[in-house]
Amino acid sequence: MTNQRILITGGAGFIGSHLTSKLVELGNEVVIIDTLLRGNKIPQDVFSKVEFHQVDVCDSAKVAELAKGADVIFHFAAILGVDIVADNPIETMETEVNGMQSVAHACAINGIEKLIYASTSGVYGHLALEQSVNEEILVDPHTSYAMAKRYNEIYLASLFEEKGINSIALRFFNIYGLRQDNRMVIPRFIEQAMKGEPLTVYGTGEQTRDFTYVEDAINCTINLAKNVQGFEIFNIANEKEATIEELAKEIIRLLNSKSEIHHIEAPKKRYDYEVGRRYGSSEKLLTHTGYKPSTGLQEGLSIVMKEV
Ligand SMILES: NC(=O)c1ccc[n+]([C@@H]2O[C@H](COP(=O)([O-])OP(=O)(O)OC[C@H]3O[C@@H](n4cnc5c(N)ncnc54)[C@H](O)[C@@H]3O)[C@@H](O)[C@H]2O)c1
Repeated sequence: MTNQRILITGGAGFIGSHLTSKLVELGNEVVIIDTLLRGNKIPQDVFSKVEFHQVDVCDSAKVAELAKGADVIFHFAAILGVDIVADNPIETMETEVNGMQSVAHACAINGIEKLIYASTSGVYGHLALEQSVNEEILVDPHTSYAMAKRYNEIYLASLFEEKGINSIALRFFNIYGLRQDNRMVIPRFIEQAMKGEPLTVYGTGEQTRDFTYVEDAINCTINLAKNVQGFEIFNIANEKEATIEELAKEIIRLLNSKSEIHHIEAPKKRYDYEVGRRYGSSEKLLTHTGYKPSTGLQEGLSIVMKEV
């Protein structure tokens, strides 16, 4: 993917900033829309090469104006983080639903036929029981965030039928890497381990997640964006389960920290988010692009540790 004009919403966030760096490196012209809710995560040398607008993605007129001439839109702006979403369900859903409508309008009036949307593995709800979840499974979103993501997936399918806008929904599975902030479990554990404080694990710690390294996720995203036809959903998953207990132990080990692990009961507001088991299949991704995430958790964590 090169020599394209690309609009990224949420481009100053964690995943968006990695995507921005890669697309600039590949020789694209990048325009970013972001409200900087968590600051600007784009490295300074890359930021000087992009066109940045501190604009709300729900501002439909502004987004349509800024999208003029774009070949593709990556729509990554969202409100996330379990505690933030649980405390702000309406704002979370409004940002998802209104943001997507605004981006869809920008595509329609500017003749932009490619749209890449950051959905979530959260749409699977509590479904990963005996095997990895694939895109064919009937989803079961439980939270306002996941329901809004699923709503947008369905909306994208109808946009193709009604307006011929081609799109992909990426179901990201626990992406981690440099510049992530402590709304998410890995940076939170690293921070606690570095301070010598206890790592706080909700419940038994036996719950699993599929941690996917951000560079892998970006490579998958760009590979998929090269060929967008109709509407498709892809898991972006490492296909490996790790328990939260294993994660905590590994972080303590890598940092040579004296921290202990404390098991605490999850606050009530987090109950819907406390999934026992979750890991994804990347078979569809591999079939379509010949590539899937491969960085192991230990390897990815080691890269992150070098920078902290
Ligand atoms: N990080 C993960 O593990 C993960 C997992 C599943 C899905 N996702 C999805 O991937 C996308 C990127 O996630 P992230 O981890 O980089 O999160 P992030 O919070 O770091 O980035 C989101 C960005 O969106 C911006 N934003 C929020 N509301 C906005 C608005 N109204 N207008 C313009 N900008 C706005 C924020 O300022 C932020 O920079 C999101 O859509 C998220 O739902 C992430």
